[in-house]
Amino acid sequence: MFTLSQETAEDWWDVEALFDLSFAPGRSALSSYRLREDVDPVSELCRVARDDQGILGGAIRYWPVQISGQPTLLLGPVAVHPTAQGEGLGGALIRDTLARARDLGHHRVILVGDAPYYSRFGFEKLQDVKMPPPTNPERILGCALQPGAWQNLHGTVKPVG
Ligand SMILES: CC(C)(COP(=O)(O)OP(=O)(O)OC[C@H]1O[C@@H](n2cnc3c(N)ncnc32)[C@H](O)[C@@H]1OP(=O)(O)O)[C@@H](O)C(=O)NCCC(=O)NCCS
Repeated sequence: MFTLSQETAEDWWDVEALFDLSFAPGRSALSSYRLREDVDPVSELCRVARDDQGILGGAIRYWPVQISGQPTLLLGPVAVHPTAQGEGLGGALIRDTLARARDLGHHRVILVGDAPYYSRFGFEKLQDVKMPPPTNPERILGCALQPGAWQNLHGTVKPVG
């Protein structure tokens, strides 16, 4: 039984350890990390899942980015501890935060990931949006939180600021 809550400063290193465990070494060399450098995450959308004993089972973070000057959310990283995978926790973290993002008035979310997984949450391959190289274009996915949020939007994803 996991409880979802907003990530706090005390959670930071636990979450980093979970991401280190879940991704290949050198994850911070990925191009998506260039968009996060020197930028604070969107705190309301950074959520952790802890069990009854306080053990971290999963975590998700979001960063603000821009595309042609339009504010956009970058989803990720998201990870579930290997012992808790396949039980719906990843889906719960993603659905919970997408609903919060919509309620907060955000328009769109982008991520770099596997379409067969993320399509169930409403993500589709983006045709006209590029991530900093090297990024496989097949893995650039977007989700509209408001109708038409991706219409006529094209360009390269850039950091805010
Ligand atoms: C991806 C991840 C967050 C999913 O969390 P989870 O709690 O295991 O996912 P859920 O229980 O909600 O969903 C499980 C389903 O997703 C599928 N799935 C998981 N990862 C997938 C992937 N990369 N591609 C396609 N399907 C995937 C499972 O096969 C399972 O399918 P089923 O419902 O038909 O049985 C988790 O597997 C993880 O942390 N992986 C390592 C880190 C990672 O890859 N993060 C995502 C980066 S893009």
